[in-house]
Amino acid sequence: MSLLQQLEELKAEALAELNSIDDSKKLESWRVQYMGKKSKLNEVLRGLAGLSIEEKKTVGAGANSLKLDLDVALKGKEQVLGEKIDQPAGEAPLDISLPGRTPPVGRLHPITQVITEMSQIFVSMGFQVVEGPEVEWDYYNFDMLNIPKEHPARDNMQTLWVDYENEKGERPMLLRTHTSPMQIRVMEKIKPPVRIVVPGKVYRYEAIDATHIPMFTQIEGLAVDRGITLADLKGTLYDFARRYFSSDRKARFRCDFFPFVEPGVEMSIECAVCKGNGCRLCSNSGWIEILGAGMVHPRVLERVGIDPSVYSGFAFGMGIERVPMLRYGIDDIRLFYGGDLRFLRQF
Ligand code: PHE
Repeated sequence: MSLLQQLEELKAEALAELNSIDDSKKLESWRVQYMGKKSKLNEVLRGLAGLSIEEKKTVGAGANSLKLDLDVALKGKEQVLGEKIDQPAGEAPLDISLPGRTPPVGRLHPITQVITEMSQIFVSMGFQVVEGPEVEWDYYNFDMLNIPKEHPARDNMQTLWVDYENEKGERPMLLRTHTSPMQIRVMEKIKPPVRIVVPGKVYRYEAIDATHIPMFTQIEGLAVDRGITLADLKGTLYDFARRYFSSDRKARFRCDFFPFVEPGVEMSIECAVCKGNGCRLCSNSGWIEILGAGMVHPRVLERVGIDPSVYSGFAFGMGIERVPMLRYGIDDIRLFYGGDLRFLRQF
């Protein structure tokens, strides 16, 4: 057998043996056997002396590359066995052959997911998504929406006022109680046609229970153009309900009052938990109200310089938390903001 062949065989033998080694003691004796002074490799190298210069070149190169290969294989094995890796004293040996720990990957909050999904539905109908400030002026939150200072509608908006007084001794700033002030901000800037939805947080001074929290989320909608009627409002919201819930889920409209719309309506959806039979979630009515809406009041249009004899519009304001509650039958609104991962991970 030529020396080169011997080297090949030696390599195969060494690597096969290395493969089955599973502790560092065996690894050390492997190293001595194949790479130490009296190793088989050195034996082959000693045989070089009697060769011609040509042969010395080829066999020498083969022996060197074998040495390198064995060295690389040894280093690899050392790592796998957790040797030669700097370890702080007193710690358990590091086993890098263990599978890694999966880093915890976050996800979007369920409310954010709902906002995205709803916005997509409205965007596909031609609405644009805009956002507005959560700290708002009394002027936009109430005055411009037909809710003057002494109006009783202010009383059921449990307002959180910002502790700031102007020169007149008034407190004109608050945490917005609804997303409706954005109707005004948008109409001040954009003239019809207007089609916007505004998702965002709103705040009310409210005692906390299964259906009330002081901070929740709404999505406002506003469409102003020539010839917009209540039929457009109903068509838009029915279409939304069909697409977000399902086509067999019932929705109904009833009269309601909001100072900034005329006429005003509320829309309810058949309860998901009891399928309309009545349960705790829907207070035994079979329905859950999800939004207030109506035709934009002519006086609101006038105040922002839009002529109500030419243009008309509809607006709606939907409470967002209720919608996933309805869809999945969640019976406590506090779950959304309790930060309990067992809940949040389900979405
Ligand atoms: N802003 C009202 C609320 O929060 C809802 C609403 C919006 C009603 C738009 C009519 C039109 O209760």
